[in-house]
Amino acid sequence: MDIGEIRKQIPATERSLYFNSGWSGPSPQPVTDAVIHNLEHQNFEGPTLPHVLLEERETKERTRQAIAEFLGATAEEITIRQNTTDGINVVLNGLTFAEDDHIISCNLEHSSGVVPLYYLRDRHGVDVTFVKLEAEDSPQEILDKIEAAMTPKTRLLLVSHISYSFGVRLPLLELNQLAHSHNAYVLVDAAQSAGHIALDMHAMDCDFYAMTGHKWIMGPDGIGALYIRRDLVEMVEPASVAGRAAEHYDFEGDFTPRRDEIKKFELTTTSGPLAAGLTAAINFQTSAGQAQIEERIAALSALARRRFADIPGVRLASPEDGPTSCGLACFSLEGMTPEDVVKQLWERGRIVARQVRESASTRLSVHYFNTENEIQAVASLLSELTSEAR
Ligand SMILES: Cc1ncc(COP(=O)(O)O)c(C=O)c1O
Repeated sequence: MDIGEIRKQIPATERSLYFNSGWSGPSPQPVTDAVIHNLEHQNFEGPTLPHVLLEERETKERTRQAIAEFLGATAEEITIRQNTTDGINVVLNGLTFAEDDHIISCNLEHSSGVVPLYYLRDRHGVDVTFVKLEAEDSPQEILDKIEAAMTPKTRLLLVSHISYSFGVRLPLLELNQLAHSHNAYVLVDAAQSAGHIALDMHAMDCDFYAMTGHKWIMGPDGIGALYIRRDLVEMVEPASVAGRAAEHYDFEGDFTPRRDEIKKFELTTTSGPLAAGLTAAINFQTSAGQAQIEERIAALSALARRRFADIPGVRLASPEDGPTSCGLACFSLEGMTPEDVVKQLWERGRIVARQVRESASTRLSVHYFNTENEIQAVASLLSELTSEAR
């Protein structure tokens, strides 16, 4: 992997030390070009010309296929969504829950999982348990805590594959197996994992996996996808429906719903430019190789954690190493608020990071396009800040 060449194609890397892909990744030039080209083509030609309509349909099917291959799934298991949250809501509002059914989640979740769960609890009377996990828990401790919360009424487990607040990577295959052995399904919030680590839905025994294109995949905002295991598609009722959710209808009252095709979740007009941009982003990512990307992120972020941990006054909030660690490095600085740290990193070093309330930390998203020198620059600035604050 030639990082110099890759960086040349990501314009944002010339303007800052960009460590915030966990919020939104900087798109490579081919992604921006694909969006613009599609938009211009549609509008210079006329959006409903027969050949433009056909090309648009093909563009969207190519995106579905690209996502399927990227996730180790089939196109029949992929519905294009607006983002992760949209996918989570499709599943939570599409499963049928009885009063007293039980759902397990955990304290590392994003509001995009937590708030829909509370709505579900208040609307349908389901019980929700948030298991308390710690950043230093081992994979076995995570599994044990979740298993201890299981009851005969547990229907669903909702977890992030990678927690956005503490940067903890959960043992997903084992969690899926655990849930299945208790007759429960698993809905995964994949906002922080898609494009960050190598994925294979079938090998990981996944049920539902909701992702976005705009973070670690570095595609445009506003397009993502939901994976539903093929044999579960029929069970999930579409909460919002339009023509694609009908096999047949007339105006005499005859109506046959479409039940067993994932297209039932898709509504009317969607964006060709965003679809073209997401396909370009996936192609850019796969040409570097997702396994290689994961490996480089692991090495770079381990370097970052080592460097930061050596600085007096810096405390890591994310796992130091091992199977639960990932490219999200969260830390706090003695004597400074995370807001101040983020501001100082930007103002003194053009380093882009963010603060996270739940872990009271500053979070760096270390992506494969980052470099050892950039990490060194962050470490030097953190040393400067801690010695000033002490
Ligand atoms: C874990 C997690 N879930 C959900 C979201 C929301 O993502 P989206 O904008 O794709 O809905 C985020 C965004 O930061 C996140 O980190």
